[in-house]
Amino acid sequence: MMDFDKVRDAVEFLNARTSARPKIALVLGSGLGAFADQVGKREVIPYSEIPNFPKSTVEGHSGNLVIGNEGGTSIAVMQGRVHFYEGYSMKEVTFPTKVLARFGIKHLILTNAAGGINSRFKAGRLMIIEDHLNLQSTNPLIGPNESRFGPRFFDMSEAYNKKMREIALSSARRLRLTVHRGVYAALTGPSYETPAEIRMLKRLGADAVGMSTVPEVIVANHMGVKCLGISCITNMAAGVSKEKINHEEVMLTGERVKGDFIRLLRAIIPAVASLQGRQ
Ligand code: HPA
Repeated sequence: MMDFDKVRDAVEFLNARTSARPKIALVLGSGLGAFADQVGKREVIPYSEIPNFPKSTVEGHSGNLVIGNEGGTSIAVMQGRVHFYEGYSMKEVTFPTKVLARFGIKHLILTNAAGGINSRFKAGRLMIIEDHLNLQSTNPLIGPNESRFGPRFFDMSEAYNKKMREIALSSARRLRLTVHRGVYAALTGPSYETPAEIRMLKRLGADAVGMSTVPEVIVANHMGVKCLGISCITNMAAGVSKEKINHEEVMLTGERVKGDFIRLLRAIIPAVASLQGRQ
């Protein structure tokens, strides 16, 4: 089946399953799924029920699409994502993004756990992604272009929407939350980086490193969906601090900043919604 038809089947399923028509969606990364549990009027749709949806295999990533209400705004929340390192193809990794776009999402907020490279960063802080480095050695749009999704060649000079970044920064300021800003580098993983790789990434201009988000942002931009990316700096990257890196620490830090993270998302969503009202 063509990608287009697979996406259409999933969208038709969602349109029949819920009467909600959200225009804002969130993707919750490793250890950051708690936000979905406190959304109002929740309809929980397991990924396994959605035609052609991939299922996450990683601990800390439950697989639910949660449709709900946040302060009067209808939202779709992906509680968990799949990664390239799990063995999924780039097409599978970005399938949910395509479904969200065709379901009517105009603004997408992507979150992830990341290692801090910038020495001014602190573990436990959030970073607003300003731009990215795609270092996954491939691109989800390689292959014939689906022109019903977007053009063959397209601009990526504002991959992370400026208005959404401003909203995130002003929301953080209002909440008196210290947030960082920076460039997110995506590697495939699943191994964490070596200190030499981190020194390389630093020279390339990266402030944080992770294993996700970039494929979804590329596909969202292709389809005209505006993106905001927020990294939770769960640890300092290899060699930046003397500590060794482990998934438990990543999850624990996610748990520790859960409160800040939820408050920030709750402040951002209505502001993004009012952006849509004015469009
Ligand atoms: N490197 C890559 N991905 C990560 C890290 C890291 O240090 N921490 C959380 N996700």
